[in-house]
Amino acid sequence: MRLKDKVAIITGAGRNIGEQTASLFAEEGAKAVVVDFDPERGNRTAEEINHRCKGAAIFVCADVSEEKSVKEMIAIAVNAYGSIDILVNNVAISDNKNIFDCTLNDFNKVLAVTLTSQFLTCKYVAEQMIEQGNGGAIVNIGSTSGFQGRDSAIAYAAAKGGVANLMRGLAVQLAPKNIRVNSVVPNKIGSPVGQEEFDPARSVPNLVGRAGTPRELAQAVLFLASDEAKFIYGENLVVDGGFSAMM
Ligand SMILES: NC(=O)c1ccc[n+]([C@@H]2O[C@H](COP(=O)([O-])OP(=O)(O)OC[C@H]3O[C@@H](n4cnc5c(N)ncnc54)[C@H](O)[C@@H]3O)[C@@H](O)[C@H]2O)c1
Repeated sequence: MRLKDKVAIITGAGRNIGEQTASLFAEEGAKAVVVDFDPERGNRTAEEINHRCKGAAIFVCADVSEEKSVKEMIAIAVNAYGSIDILVNNVAISDNKNIFDCTLNDFNKVLAVTLTSQFLTCKYVAEQMIEQGNGGAIVNIGSTSGFQGRDSAIAYAAAKGGVANLMRGLAVQLAPKNIRVNSVVPNKIGSPVGQEEFDPARSVPNLVGRAGTPRELAQAVLFLASDEAKFIYGENLVVDGGFSAMM
């Protein structure tokens, strides 16, 4: 078991990538703090995990773009399991718009949920980890959209570019506190961000010829969160079926 007795917060764990990450972490011995602002989704994930691994998950309803909500989330997690060892920042939303269709409100909302949320959770979870004195691991979910210009999703791509460099800054600033920060960078995993349905006709330009599964992405998150990655700091681990290699 690679995460035995570790306590892990996974944001946006109500479905897809976050859900599979929480589930895999629990299978590897972690206590999973399943965070989502949708109580139906979050409760379902936590119940499903507890059905298989009794007591391995709690659901915390939180909006990670709100500072107060993030602080409450951390307090509930510590109250339930005593500490926080791992943070996975998985929440994001996309605008799916070009600059002419994207309003200032759209832009600010996408940045708040996709980028500012990672600033808030990292800031307060790192404080908690430092107080505990045992270090920790943070894995922020980026996107290939953070490394390329696209003809849509202007706000999402800008936010994900910010995610990449926020991670590097955090890696540098938190390394002296024994906290490792890295990112996983997906492309085309299961359904598109913000959607539950998967369109089988969607074109998937990569070397594998199919979309990745949320489980395949979760396995990369697990690696970076585990001690197997203890010499890896400030890295963007691309999990995209070779999409970036073709660019
Ligand atoms: N799916 C892909 O193909 C893909 C590609 C590249 C990057 N990513 C990244 O992977 C991550 C997960 O993507 P996904 O497709 O599984 O997302 P998703 O939209 O399926 O799930 C996101 C979850 O986050 C929750 N959520 C949204 N806003 C929230 C908030 N403010 N507070 C708390 N919870 C909130 C939602 O309720 C949902 O359960 C994202 O960071 C995304 O940018 C995904």
